[in-house]
Amino acid sequence: MKSLQINTFKEYKEKYEQSVSDPEGFWSEVAEHFQWKKKWDKVLEWDFSKPEIKWFIGAKLNITENCLDRHLETIGNKTAIIWEPNDPDEESRYITYRQLYVKVSRFANVLKNNGIKKGDRVCLYMPMIPELAIAMLACARIGAVHSIVFAGFSSSALSSRINDSQCKMLITANEVYRGTKPINLKKVCDQALENTPSVETVIVYRRTVEPTEMTPGRDKFWFDELQKVDTPCEAEAMDAEDLLFILYTSGSTGKPKGMVHTTGGYMVGSTYTFENVFQCKKDDIYWCTADIGWITGHSYIIYGPLCAGATTVMFEGVPSYPDYGRFWEIVDKLNVTHFYTAPTAIRALAKHPLSLVEKHDLSSLKVLGSVGEPINEEAWHWYNDNIGKSNCPIVDTWWQTETGAMMISPIAGITPTRPTFATLPLPGVQPVLMDERGNEVVQKSMEASEGRLAMKAPWPSIARTIYGDHQRYKDTYFSAYKNMYFTGDGAYRDASGNYRITGRVDDVVIVSGHNLGTAPIENAIDEHADIVECAVVGFPHDVKGNALYAFVTKYDDCKTSDEDLKIEINKLIASTIGAIAKLDKVQFVSGLPKTRSGKIMRRILRKIASNEADNLGDISTLLNPDIVEEIKAGAL
Ligand code: PRX
Repeated sequence: MKSLQINTFKEYKEKYEQSVSDPEGFWSEVAEHFQWKKKWDKVLEWDFSKPEIKWFIGAKLNITENCLDRHLETIGNKTAIIWEPNDPDEESRYITYRQLYVKVSRFANVLKNNGIKKGDRVCLYMPMIPELAIAMLACARIGAVHSIVFAGFSSSALSSRINDSQCKMLITANEVYRGTKPINLKKVCDQALENTPSVETVIVYRRTVEPTEMTPGRDKFWFDELQKVDTPCEAEAMDAEDLLFILYTSGSTGKPKGMVHTTGGYMVGSTYTFENVFQCKKDDIYWCTADIGWITGHSYIIYGPLCAGATTVMFEGVPSYPDYGRFWEIVDKLNVTHFYTAPTAIRALAKHPLSLVEKHDLSSLKVLGSVGEPINEEAWHWYNDNIGKSNCPIVDTWWQTETGAMMISPIAGITPTRPTFATLPLPGVQPVLMDERGNEVVQKSMEASEGRLAMKAPWPSIARTIYGDHQRYKDTYFSAYKNMYFTGDGAYRDASGNYRITGRVDDVVIVSGHNLGTAPIENAIDEHADIVECAVVGFPHDVKGNALYAFVTKYDDCKTSDEDLKIEINKLIASTIGAIAKLDKVQFVSGLPKTRSGKIMRRILRKIASNEADNLGDISTLLNPDIVEEIKAGAL
């Protein structure tokens, strides 16, 4: 593929201007870089009031021909995937584009042989092994819709997702090790399958030699099924708007939302942003540490990098095993050039001695990335100083499951960066800030502004609906502001137009009539040398309306007393934000409740702070449900 990369900041500005004044012309030029079975009749039709969004109307393609087939002649022998196992003594796997093409085609025939057809939904509940990539691409090859469920979710979370989209098949592995902990995925599946009548077949990849209980007629081993089929598998001609995948994301209320992504626009959006934001060159080694069970893994471990012909690393394990230097050991071993992770991982690693970083050679690194939540100053500097050695641009990429691809982010080495700022919108992205009354906050020159972040126009990889619930899609994203997509986030924009995401607007607390975002208060607390991490929530207060409650974790070797620490934290807040943001309550805890993707579950903390701990709702999908009891017991 000819390069899609922007080379200078001037070029970025020109492309951006073009993408706003002539979106159809801009995106059709980008789309020319891909392989289509039939080109589009029209680039875009949209109406946010319905909402209905269609890109590359009338076009036919298969995304796997773009990820695989078209690379065979040029880079067939290049490594597509490097797989790094949980156990450092087990061998890494290197899979070339040609090998991946063969594996995907063959497994696609396994799907067909088991009755899967275009449009059928297939659920994947798998560990981070190459077979997960193979299975998802095999689905795409024959036009089946994959629904990947993160393999840390409980059986009930799995069954509700399977039922929501009526999956016909489930693909899993028998068992996997994460750190020292064996996880029997097949057992979780068996429990989930007790009430998922739509599933006819289960394909089981044997990751370990442990005996595996199989239900005759339903369960089949991956390897056995491969023996029954040939390799070639023609790629199904998909309409650009045919479903590529469903991915569930949690809403602020109610059941998870099955976000629907379609084929053409998603391919163009994920690849264009991958190419530009990371600026990978021919021999670079790119590693995104996310799990493929999240959108980051879909777009930036698999589809974006493979369409772009990059070498992408998949890591099966955890950052703490065999020790907290594992990430850096892998960077050193594989000569990773591009490293993309989440602030929560950075903060966790920063807690441990620097010697764990320093004993590894990180000189191969060129670009660092951050995603998933606002990165606070302290974490940004730790990452920049100790990992990037002040030599690697940090791309703080803001986007969402719903957006499918990065939206606001620096282009590595090209956009000037600023700690904690996601900086500027990528071409094709038209952000606006909205005020409390629903009016656009107009950017006046040399003036900063703040508001709720919305989008004025569609971009190719926007989710098209919530599976089976278009009304909820409309209510959630298109009802807050007329003719706009509402992100649910708040943002600050500096005088030069750089955006800093301040956090979910549902985390705003009104204290004595003042609108306070909790993220900047948390940033201020995190600045304290004794503090690892914190979460601030509001709770009802007789006089102020709401007051602030902080849940704080401190370093093990902290010598300051809790009382003194509280005073020092409040001083820090007063000096960075103002006395209005002073905390009424500070509870020191040994950990914060987190989702599997590392997000702090503020919903739970809000309830505890508001004395409603009896009514916490479902906490089974938390990474660390045990912490909740400890926090409840110590609540102030
Ligand atoms: O609040 C924003 C935050 O994560 C939300 C989207 O979460 P999810 O759909 O799970 O996707 C995460 C991976 C793309 C956003 O609404 N968020 C994501 N990236 C950033 C961020 N907040 C601040 N800075 C970011 N770079």
